[in-house]
Amino acid sequence: MEKAPQTEYLPTTFTIFGITGDLSRRKLLPSIFHLFRHGLLPEHIEFIGLAIEEKTTEEFHALIADSLRTFVDGTVEENELTQFVSLFIYLQSDITKRDAYDVLQKRMHDSDKKCDAPHQSIFYLAVAPHFFIPIIEHLDASHLTGPCPEYDVKAKIVIEKPFGRDVESAAALNETVLKYADEDQIYRMDHYLGKETVQNMLLFRFTNPVINDSWNPKAIERIEIIASENIGVEQRASYYDTAGALRDMVQSHGLALLSLVTMDEPNSLQSKDIHEKKQEMFETISIFDENNIESSALRGQYEGYTQSDGVAPDSTTETFAQLRLKSSHPQWKDVPMYITTGKMLASKETRVQIHFTPCQSNICKTQGIRTEPNILELRVQPQEGISLKLFAKKPGFYVETQEVEMTFDYNASFSDEQPSPYERLIHDVIIGDQSLFPSTEEVMDQWRIIQPILDTWTSSHDHPPIYTYPKGSHGPAESKQFLS
Ligand code: BG6
Repeated sequence: MEKAPQTEYLPTTFTIFGITGDLSRRKLLPSIFHLFRHGLLPEHIEFIGLAIEEKTTEEFHALIADSLRTFVDGTVEENELTQFVSLFIYLQSDITKRDAYDVLQKRMHDSDKKCDAPHQSIFYLAVAPHFFIPIIEHLDASHLTGPCPEYDVKAKIVIEKPFGRDVESAAALNETVLKYADEDQIYRMDHYLGKETVQNMLLFRFTNPVINDSWNPKAIERIEIIASENIGVEQRASYYDTAGALRDMVQSHGLALLSLVTMDEPNSLQSKDIHEKKQEMFETISIFDENNIESSALRGQYEGYTQSDGVAPDSTTETFAQLRLKSSHPQWKDVPMYITTGKMLASKETRVQIHFTPCQSNICKTQGIRTEPNILELRVQPQEGISLKLFAKKPGFYVETQEVEMTFDYNASFSDEQPSPYERLIHDVIIGDQSLFPSTEEVMDQWRIIQPILDTWTSSHDHPPIYTYPKGSHGPAESKQFLS
């Protein structure tokens, strides 16, 4: 893994709220360790972990070691581990109380003194959403979110999803956050945007004229985004049962993918230019018919979901959601766009399919030669790559065609290790690149797009059916018809 050539690292104090939680142990610590291993952390960096539990330094370091041994692929050498844990200190804190921030402030001051240089501050909120506002208020009251004048950088605040649960709550959250911090200080995590294959989407389109020239409604008949999972709600039932597939996957990841596939070419790959074009695109997207939710969205629930631990026995939470969307952008006006996601399906895969218009050639029409629309598939995971479904003449004396596939496979073409999404995004926070983090407007648009469906699905009357589906299937049988 290579460092971006222009990377310049500032001395950094990186505070993680919720260091003992699941997200920290599964994702943050292993990703930070990878960055450390590849020399992609500032020379002067200190991590301060905050959580409510009492822990000695030894117990805290043992927790880090356990997380790495469990979640890092391959062996973690003892000497690496010793060096890595020495970057971390633990502060037992009640993060809802002011005292915690006084202690934190003092500790951050000590970090500056230790290396005789001021540090930029990063605050990572790896905690439940109801802590977001109290933490930001306390950080502000303790003057911890201010700028670091020596480097002309402001403190950065990293917020995990879910960012709100509907338009109203997301707007309230944004308003409070922006009262204490500026937009350029806020990094909202959507780990899909950190996936290598997702980042390739823009480059793939705009650097290949043959692809870019075909990216128009004359050539494209429909766009489909599929993010299926073969696991259930696992240990997260208490969160998931109040969220559902629409909030959990569509509002963030699904719509983020759609904007990348459809946005106009930005002037540059600078954060500001990318956000401008993404934003313009989001503004044009809506569900297919706001007055007819059943024609715009379908929901399902896997059999046995309501018997899962932590799920209400009469839960109507959807574990499968399928949306039909449209755009008023002149380029996409008559092109239907579909997003499908669900848990406990047959396989784990995320892909974007571009269905091109059927063959109009006379040869096809008059000779009865078999063709079907070409489909370009961008595979986000697994087997990351791109393939194009075409038709070719079968060898022999007859004029007969057969479906063939042109394929590009990431692993076969590139030997470099791919950074994980969290590694990539944490590194971007450290260097202050916001390109891959949704802006306030983007998040608000994402909620605006799905709000009519949320309203209908959660209303006590007039709600459309929830179709059940067997575990390990492709979702409700009704989904096929919805797509046709
Ligand atoms: C998370 C959702 O954002 O994404 C989870 O909250 C989901 O419910 C996960 O399982 C899927 O991520 P990935 O990277 O495994 O496709």
